Amino acid sequence: MNSRNRIEIMHGVNLDQLGRRPAEHYGALTLDQLEQKIEGWSHELGLTVRFFRSNSEGSFVEHLHRLADVADAVILNPGAWTHYAWAIRDALEIADLPSVEVHLSDVSARESWRQVSVLEGVVSDVVSGQGPEGYNAALQLLAAKLK
Ligand code: DQA
Repeated sequence: MNSRNRIEIMHGVNLDQLGRRPAEHYGALTLDQLEQKIEGWSHELGLTVRFFRSNSEGSFVEHLHRLADVADAVILNPGAWTHYAWAIRDALEIADLPSVEVHLSDVSARESWRQVSVLEGVVSDVVSGQGPEGYNAALQLLAAKLK
């Protein structure tokens, strides 16, 4: 097994409401169910995942500040913060870890404001529009990077 295998999975604002949000964009899984799937995929890849979710931008930022000591890489879906929360970009830069930005929906094909990401240039990769499978793709990208 990989020695660098600790992946933090961070969900931001309104993602805890999955299951109640428009299914045409986000599917029907709750966040608990999504996290169970991610846990299964991570085991297949020899990765260890830990989950964090918050509707508070400050908590999200502070979690990123602490991450370098406890994780080797991060997958984050910041929800709507993606499109305007510059403090999250700065905090991710401070964390200085390999990172993948994931969106369940295809943000590039939605409203123009969703097509902007403050994380551009800071994240290692972006996976968008693949639904829950996008997290599997992100885990695979990181597994390859951490080898
Ligand atoms: C999202 C896309 C965002 O635009 C939106 O605000 C979300 C979820 C996604 O996973 O598709 O809350 O990040």
